[in-house]
Amino acid sequence: MSVIDDVKQRVDIVEVVADCVPLQKAGRNFKALCPFHSEKNPSFFVFPDQQTWHCFGACNTGGDVFSFIMKKEGIDFGQALHLLAQRAGIVLREATETEKAKDEGTKRLFELNELASEYYHHLLLDTAVGEKARSYLDSRKITLETIKKFRLGFSPGDWEAIKKFLINKGYEQKDLFDVGLIIEKEDGGSYDRFRERLMFPIWDIKGRITGFGARALDDSQPKYINSPQTVIFDKGSNFYGIDKAKDVIRKENLAIIVEGYMDVLATHQNGWQNVVASMGTSLTERQVNILKRLTKNISLALDADIAGEEATLRSGEILARSLDRKAIPVPLWTGLVRCEGILDAEIKVIPLPSGKDPDEVIIETPKLWQSMVTQALPILEFALEVVINKVDFNKAEDKSLAIQKLLPLLYEVKDPIRQAQYVQKMAHLLKLDESTLMAVLRKMRATKGKQLIEVNHSHLFRRLASSPIEEICLALLFQYPEYRDVVQELEPEFFVYTENRELFSKWQQSQSISELKEKLDTNLLEHLNYLLNKTFPPESQKGSRQRELADCVLRLQERHSRSLEAKKEVILNLERETEGIDAELAKLEEQGIASSQRIREIFIKQSRAGKTGGS
Ligand code: UTP
Ligand code: MN
Repeated sequence: MSVIDDVKQRVDIVEVVADCVPLQKAGRNFKALCPFHSEKNPSFFVFPDQQTWHCFGACNTGGDVFSFIMKKEGIDFGQALHLLAQRAGIVLREATETEKAKDEGTKRLFELNELASEYYHHLLLDTAVGEKARSYLDSRKITLETIKKFRLGFSPGDWEAIKKFLINKGYEQKDLFDVGLIIEKEDGGSYDRFRERLMFPIWDIKGRITGFGARALDDSQPKYINSPQTVIFDKGSNFYGIDKAKDVIRKENLAIIVEGYMDVLATHQNGWQNVVASMGTSLTERQVNILKRLTKNISLALDADIAGEEATLRSGEILARSLDRKAIPVPLWTGLVRCEGILDAEIKVIPLPSGKDPDEVIIETPKLWQSMVTQALPILEFALEVVINKVDFNKAEDKSLAIQKLLPLLYEVKDPIRQAQYVQKMAHLLKLDESTLMAVLRKMRATKGKQLIEVNHSHLFRRLASSPIEEICLALLFQYPEYRDVVQELEPEFFVYTENRELFSKWQQSQSISELKEKLDTNLLEHLNYLLNKTFPPESQKGSRQRELADCVLRLQERHSRSLEAKKEVILNLERETEGIDAELAKLEEQGIASSQRIREIFIKQSRAGKTGGS
């Protein structure tokens, strides 16, 4: 699961396609002469919002970035994954045969980090050179107990301190380089990566040191240096403090996510041991996956300035592509609200006083921190407040924008009672009629409406890491092989996500799950296992799984034809601009009729030309 998701998050289909064919802008989308067949007029489209492509010409097919590369290069899924991972700078899991050798190698790297951490720790606590780091920690009110618990250290200013220390212990320069402790020079020499810094060993959940964070002791920049991406270190796959927090998180059934190393030290020191740090990066799905095994209750205490930036982004005054792109690495609300829907998690936001870190709050006034934690807002409420705070009630378009931003989030709330509460609140805050909002939501839910809105509002849904319906369908299918007959109508094309499409088509060619497993490489196998482990509520009555599966098939079928229609509509430049709330709502009402007429026209035209396979 994880690598596939990671690649999806970091690779932009527009850039990938643009490397193969020149793209022309077509509204929010792009068109090109199809790279897969020869043609005079562009019938190949890229949809950045959905991160998909489609050829409406001879190919009459489409998919995501993986299927594009597979088709373009004539390679299989595993190879495409490799290629795209490389492009995104992601270290891929290697194939099983080499894993043993790798295990030996990684053991060595962990060993090195262990030794290095002890060395740095010793320098901090027991030597004269460590004095300035000791007094720095003192000034930050970090106690000796905390220093020991987190094995904080000091890296001296010498260029070759850690290098000499470890080489004396029998390790080689290459090992030190592989683990990121030294930097190689062009002439073949090397020097210590971390110098004159306060050292934070970073443990993973299994208690192994994967790398280090290193803080400057003064105002010099960068404030922190971290281990580079290595075979064992990947910032986005871990939380700082998770090793010490995991049991408490489970016990208290709550995880608090802060941003910084210092925040973890301060909170743990003051009795909050369920706190982990995302280490300054945006949350990744891999990180959420770590936590979701421990608890479903997650509270975010992220810097007000980041939240502020996010707010600006999300308020979406400018929906320019450049901003869209900027929005990717901070999938705060939309990503998490979605996560909440999928994981059935409770995600809250702890509102921080502006300009303050949890570290400052808790060191200055521990009581304040306590009350902030209890006052955490459900993430959607937080989103409502931030978005609505930006609304200038004299401007109709402001209200309309707020609705555009919030409705897709509301739509994700699966519990109808909670959804109704939010609608009520939103109507109240926006001084709108509740029934109007409800009507728009219903419209979204109505099959056609949903697709249309996704086309227009999908900047909020960018880079969804997965499709629940696809996954549920496959999970049912794989877990209840006796219902194989139910999916006779299902086609690989109906799956947008290549990993699902691949699993499905390989399953079609297999008699059993074990046969299917033999056809898969590591990453697809991982995805399959994830699906096999997916749990469902107990079957309400005998045979209801069969009905659920049939329902999935139907929904995938519908989704497929709807998405074709919606895409064709986009091509007709049905680009709706915001024209104030009344117009927006009226348009939503009318959309169904207006668009299907147009679609009927294209279908007639295309089927005369003998081209279309749609509808
Ligand atoms: P902060 O700047 O909030 O750091 O960045 P902090 O831990 O609170 O440190 P103090 O309180 O200023 O001493 C949050 C996190 O972002 C990452 C680190 O993980 C840091 O803890 N970060 C920040 C970096 O990796 N590099 C940087 O240059 C800055
Ligand atoms: Mn701080």
